[in-house]
Amino acid sequence: MTERTALAVILAAGDGTRMRSALPKVLHPVAGLPMLGHVLGAAASAGIGRRAVVVGAGGAAVSAFLAKHAPDALVAEQVERRGTAHAVLAAGALLAAEPDDVLVLYGDTPLVTPETLSRMRAALAEGAAVVVLGFRPADPTGYGRLIEEDGRLVAIREERDATPAERAIGFCNAGLMAFSGKGLLDLLRAISNDNAKGEFYLTDAVELARARGGRVVALEAPAEEVLGVNTRVELAAVEAIWQSRARKAAMLAGVTMPAPETVFLAHDTRLDRDVLVEPNVVFGPGVSVAEGAVIHAFCHLEGATVEAGASIGPFARLRPGTRLGAGARAGNFVEVKNAEIGAGAKVNHLSYIGDAFVGAQANIGAGTITCNYDGFDKHRTTIGAGAFIGSNSALVAPVAIGDGGYVASGSVITENVDADALALGRASQVAKPGWAARFRARKRAERAGRG
Ligand code: UD1
Ligand code: MG
Repeated sequence: MTERTALAVILAAGDGTRMRSALPKVLHPVAGLPMLGHVLGAAASAGIGRRAVVVGAGGAAVSAFLAKHAPDALVAEQVERRGTAHAVLAAGALLAAEPDDVLVLYGDTPLVTPETLSRMRAALAEGAAVVVLGFRPADPTGYGRLIEEDGRLVAIREERDATPAERAIGFCNAGLMAFSGKGLLDLLRAISNDNAKGEFYLTDAVELARARGGRVVALEAPAEEVLGVNTRVELAAVEAIWQSRARKAAMLAGVTMPAPETVFLAHDTRLDRDVLVEPNVVFGPGVSVAEGAVIHAFCHLEGATVEAGASIGPFARLRPGTRLGAGARAGNFVEVKNAEIGAGAKVNHLSYIGDAFVGAQANIGAGTITCNYDGFDKHRTTIGAGAFIGSNSALVAPVAIGDGGYVASGSVITENVDADALALGRASQVAKPGWAARFRARKRAERAGRG
């Protein structure tokens, strides 16, 4: 089969009033990525080369997201909301080129899979003029009903326009549709707004296409996949479905999760095989974890690269720009930010390592702090391979500790330390023999005198 050209028109002009948000609905994230990003991703994975997003008046925030995330996507503005067919016509300039396949997707329906989009495209390739994605919701109220005759889809009836008998139908329109691009512009322009809502219904394309001799096909999708988001309650439901899919995929790919329901993944989390993720771990965007690494309970990772066999937590936080080398350890109550921890290095307890380089096999004692910020600028700390930083040391950046350097516990290090040198940056100890006994005796005598 020769490669078919394809265009996805993603409807995102809704106000999203019920989200009660200053953020446009389609920019609300699922797994750390705006819903719209999920839809664009599914379209791209289904081999759909061109993508247009229909935004409402003032879709500036959506355009800004697209400029960064999908610069090749076209933004089409639908100034007045006059129905789903009217919305698709906002991308009319792209329809004029008559791509083979035109898929109409919703920006607020982010769980649709590339497989389903590919099934819709396959039906077009087999000659359908219109492909409707149907589903069987637990409660069909509010959805367009798929009207079939002799097992063939003949019309979609919107709830408000339906007869009681039609309302009893459980097979509903998910809203996502696919069209042969040939003559589509004409077909859409022929749709009228003679209905209960006075809107131009995309769903009317079914009857019109049939009248023109086109074949119309209904495919069924699992209800979970076409769940649309109108409220934050539905946003949470979509997130839950996304997470359970992603956890399952991770486990099937060789990741161990003893309590998967407590692990939260981001849209781009990469976990290699034999990674162990203990309970209550949260992955923000931009994390990859290599083979055999262990993430103990209650960790939070974001923008971090973890190399093979490394160990994190329990209760550790890896912030953006962290690279944890092979076999390295970031233990309990350790925070790492914009820092490379070399292979086999250990930061085992209660430390903050920020804007730093820690060489291989270095040992960072409990309570070590890199003082990276002076209130205006961030400064770097460099710790050489095999260095030993005693517990409760403050390394005041910019500062460097040479390879094999040794910092005495409790030091405040403000100057560079040479390789293999010892640095003591603390007051020397003063011992006063018998002082404590004399002190106590004096105090007791004072109290006895008062009594
Ligand atoms: C639509 C379908 C209905 C289906 C339901 C599934 C039509 C006529 N009806 O109904 O059969 O069961 O979706 O959820 O298509 N939009 C625009 N511009 C507009 C109108 C809508 O961008 O002028 C966008 C909305 O933001 C939304 C989507 O299109 O993402 C669907 O619009 P909505 O008003 O929710 O349609 P429904 O009445 O739910
Ligand atoms: Mg709707």
